[in-house]
Amino acid sequence: MKSKLMLCAGAMALVLSVQSHAQITATERAESTVAQMTNAEKIQLVLGHLTSPMGEYEPPSEAIVGAGFVPGVSRLGVPPLWETDASLGITWVGGNRGTGGTALPSGTAQGSTWNPDLMEQGGRMLGTEASAKGFNVLLAGGMNLMRDPRNGRTFEYLGEDPWHAALIASAAVRGIQSRNVISTLKHFAINPQETGRHFMNVEIDEAALRESDLLAFELAIEQSGPGALMCAYNALNGPLSCGNPFLLTDVLRDDWGYQGFVMSDWGAVEATDFAMAGLDQQSGAQIDEDLFFGDALLELAQTDSDYEARLTQMAQNVLYAIYYVGLDTNLPTREDFDKAAHAELSKQIAEEGIVLLKNEGDVLPIFGAPRQILVIGGNADAGTPSGGGSSRVAADEGPAITVPFIRGSDAPFASMLDQMYHNSAPVDALREALPGTEIIYRDGRYSSEAAMLAEDADLVIVFATQYQTEGYDVADLSLPNGQDVLIAAVAEANENTIIVLETGGPVAMPWLNDVSAVLEAWYPGAKGGEAIAKVLTGKVNPSGHLPISFPKSLDDLPRSDLAGLKEVAPSFIGKGAPGQTLTENYDIEGSDIGYRWYAREGIKTLFPFGAGLSYTEFNFGGLSMTGPTAELKARFEVENTGDADGADVAQLYLTSINDKPVQRLVGFQKVRLAPGEVTDVSLTIEPRLLANWTDDHWVIDEGTYTFALGYDAETLLEPDYVTLERLEIASDGATIITSENQE
Ligand code: BGC
Repeated sequence: MKSKLMLCAGAMALVLSVQSHAQITATERAESTVAQMTNAEKIQLVLGHLTSPMGEYEPPSEAIVGAGFVPGVSRLGVPPLWETDASLGITWVGGNRGTGGTALPSGTAQGSTWNPDLMEQGGRMLGTEASAKGFNVLLAGGMNLMRDPRNGRTFEYLGEDPWHAALIASAAVRGIQSRNVISTLKHFAINPQETGRHFMNVEIDEAALRESDLLAFELAIEQSGPGALMCAYNALNGPLSCGNPFLLTDVLRDDWGYQGFVMSDWGAVEATDFAMAGLDQQSGAQIDEDLFFGDALLELAQTDSDYEARLTQMAQNVLYAIYYVGLDTNLPTREDFDKAAHAELSKQIAEEGIVLLKNEGDVLPIFGAPRQILVIGGNADAGTPSGGGSSRVAADEGPAITVPFIRGSDAPFASMLDQMYHNSAPVDALREALPGTEIIYRDGRYSSEAAMLAEDADLVIVFATQYQTEGYDVADLSLPNGQDVLIAAVAEANENTIIVLETGGPVAMPWLNDVSAVLEAWYPGAKGGEAIAKVLTGKVNPSGHLPISFPKSLDDLPRSDLAGLKEVAPSFIGKGAPGQTLTENYDIEGSDIGYRWYAREGIKTLFPFGAGLSYTEFNFGGLSMTGPTAELKARFEVENTGDADGADVAQLYLTSINDKPVQRLVGFQKVRLAPGEVTDVSLTIEPRLLANWTDDHWVIDEGTYTFALGYDAETLLEPDYVTLERLEIASDGATIITSENQE
């Protein structure tokens, strides 16, 4: 982790980047080991293989079924790398390993907790389970910012804001690596949609990129020291991310001084010279057209000194991560773990991640013991949904049910797209929580039947789902398969209709005015049914807040059409027809992603970034900002003015610079308080959140900066102003190169 040392001389401040002892030791050890390696041994560290058969390839018998492995060099005590997905739990890989893992709630649910400490515990849990199953690399840390709510992997990611995503992702990575398991951060960079994912070219201006997606990675790397980064499938301003010298060398190494290794995403390497662009390891190479980092790279290294030097550096980067995270001295534990405690933690994350969006007339929490509740849809009698693709997790005993996604398809990886439900049925949990109430369930196939039964129920709870899977985008913001029609019919029949959304990302709600309450439960993980029941019945006071904006309509997005949706056939591994291209202009919003775009355009959302209700009331106030620029501090108070225990997220936004309106989240704090309790909060503001990227470095102009606390991005309180001196920060993010009064 990079730490900052600040030396003050008069009004000038100089910050040096200082390496930790662990970093220095890891660097020295990596240099010494690589010096003893032959080129063939170095290749052993930079060429990753699959752990499942593919074509004529058969993995070695000792392979632990996961995502891939890298053989290591036993002669020098360098352990093999055993890799598994992902951020949401140790994945199921079609049940082929014979064990599952504890499913955490989706990334959007994790982001909705706004609770990095809790996500650090989640990371520790993931690290423990990975190690118990023999893995020492976790392909976790998914943190791509949501630029389009139709992205089919929205559920894997944490939100739309760089500071928020960096804090949550880095906490998880710290937790994972505390168990001597290397974590990635991924996918570097942008990876904005699944349609045409292997060839889509994202065009974006460097300043906008530095201030948004790259800033998120930069901050997360600094705060967690991930052993590895996974580069993305998409191209960025021309070259594919995994062969992109600007991303992998200029930014990552030269500017940020990153010392771990860059592994490719699976199937993302197209040439041996990706090595020269900055890629350190070809992953699951059997998926690619060739083992580019095998014999081909070895041959080049034997004959070309530039290639040889590069191969040495690549191997050294892998070794650095192994030593930094302690893989050589802490082999995978292969020990049992406390499954019940892990399930409990998953439930806690779900409870903190469920967002109460509407609660008219305080219909929630369910009061007393209603005579009859009708539950409709969402397979709520069976379990709670997960998303699809490489991140799918199921318990050891497998999913409660599986719903085929592509029926009868023999396309490669088709089975990874099937939708699995965790064995945690909301209907069962509600029956347990409300023993005196008759709970009826109908699947919602026929809205006429649902509406007929709704007429007689005291309360109706509709579970509405939107499935997302890697490889496919969602076409629009509707709830598929007629669920919007179903909800409208039920809401007309019963005024006490509560909607529980289990969606990967934002959906439109054409029926919103006609229902009493809406809970966004996302994909709530292994104990999701219990968590939902606890929130509905008030055993848990909801404290989740949206980490992404819910737009009213696709017309409000920077791009109302999703690139390629019409002309590119969805495909998990498809590289498109020869020469097929797809380009998207991300300069429309630039660094103003999500709420920043809506603020800039003066568009009101359906539900803003940061929104979330509670069963109690909170008051934020007394904001006071004090400089200097490099150590700007915010102080304010949070009070629980209601009559229940609860937690809220105080959000601090920069709202103008020298009278020019902007909106940037610069800090947040989740605060848990008893009724009547008040607490002081103090936040230090990361200077780069105030800066613009200008002429290859960060610049904070002199002037008046306005800040406001918010309950969400559209509900802001009285602002406070502070005058800041000019400050320029070098591209390493740490070295202050000038300040206004520099002598
Ligand atoms: C995904 C990665 C994942 C990898 C290995 C790819 O399809 O994009 O996120 O880590 O597979 O399973």
